[in-house]
Amino acid sequence: MKVSVVTRSGRELVNGGLDLGDSATVSDLQEEIHRRTKKYYPSRQRLTLPLPRGSTQKPTVLHYKKSLKEYTDGNKNELTIVFKDLGPQVKYSTLFFWEYVGPLFIYPLFYYMPIYKHFGHEGKRIIHPVQTYAMYYWCFHYAKRILETFFVHRFSHATSPVSNVFRNCAYYWSFAAFIAYFVNHPLYTPVSDVQMKIGFGFGLICQVCNFYCHILLRNLRGADGGGGYQIPRGFLFNIVTCANYTTEIYQWLGFNIATQTVAGYVFMVVAAAIMTNWALGKHRRLKKLFDGKEGRPKYPRRWVILPPFL
Ligand SMILES: NC(=O)c1ccc[n+]([C@@H]2O[C@H](COP(=O)([O-])OP(=O)(O)OC[C@H]3O[C@@H](n4cnc5c(N)ncnc54)[C@H](OP(=O)(O)O)[C@@H]3O)[C@@H](O)[C@H]2O)c1
Repeated sequence: MKVSVVTRSGRELVNGGLDLGDSATVSDLQEEIHRRTKKYYPSRQRLTLPLPRGSTQKPTVLHYKKSLKEYTDGNKNELTIVFKDLGPQVKYSTLFFWEYVGPLFIYPLFYYMPIYKHFGHEGKRIIHPVQTYAMYYWCFHYAKRILETFFVHRFSHATSPVSNVFRNCAYYWSFAAFIAYFVNHPLYTPVSDVQMKIGFGFGLICQVCNFYCHILLRNLRGADGGGGYQIPRGFLFNIVTCANYTTEIYQWLGFNIATQTVAGYVFMVVAAAIMTNWALGKHRRLKKLFDGKEGRPKYPRRWVILPPFL
């Protein structure tokens, strides 16, 4: 099969095209492009079918596991593919590791180190029990996320652009410093003992529920990350599409009830806004995939993220 690979401006990426066997897959084509261009390793490549001139439709993205023949539209021996460079990529687990490892180390710095001397607070700092529990709660949360990244989640995308590492780290690391600064501050006023216990108790229950939600999501896919998207079922997923985000938001609420800082609440609201946006997309995708037509199951009626509001 003769495959012409062109860039979006119409320039030929590999001069003279590529000759591939009849049974070649999209993955074989990607390997061949990599062999010929070196710079463009497979996860950097986005391959699509060409669109008619002036079309405003989204192009069909080639799936690496599929055979090239499935995209030939009757003409079995020739295929034109449009190539886009996605830029340098990192593994999803690497991206998540760097965004979570920052908060894990930044927060304890404010607890253990004499940082407040540099902000004009001389003298001995009295550490309240709530500040100690908050530090352990925080570290437990981010250690859990790192462990889940490596041992629980089954990502469908292998990689993400390197630029996301800088963007996501800026978000997580700066919020970690912002919250840690106020919760560990020498002038911090603790909440009552009862409020602290309710907050941390509730937050810990939500963290356990969040972990269980991640186990249920993991079981929707095979070990190789294949299997696409399935209807999440069981436990809170019977009520809400993104139960993992619901429990994530509520565990931050627990932390904030116990520690009560404006910084903590600001983070919770920003995180909830981001997750709500993603949850709406995920809910829409599941409703579209499971539309109840042509033998497909119908996506059940569920809240999106925060019952009884959304
Ligand atoms: N505090 C914050 O700002 C914040 C923000 C975001 C996330 N988080 C936390 O980090 C956790 C992970 O975040 P995330 O955005 O990666 O979660 P996610 O996309 O909802 O799900 C986690 C894993 O489950 C897979 N999955 C989700 N729905 C699925 C379905 N219907 N069928 C099959 N597999 C499915 C995802 O696959 P794909 O690889 O295909 O997506 C992903 O690998 C969250 O649950 C939350 O606890 C915190």
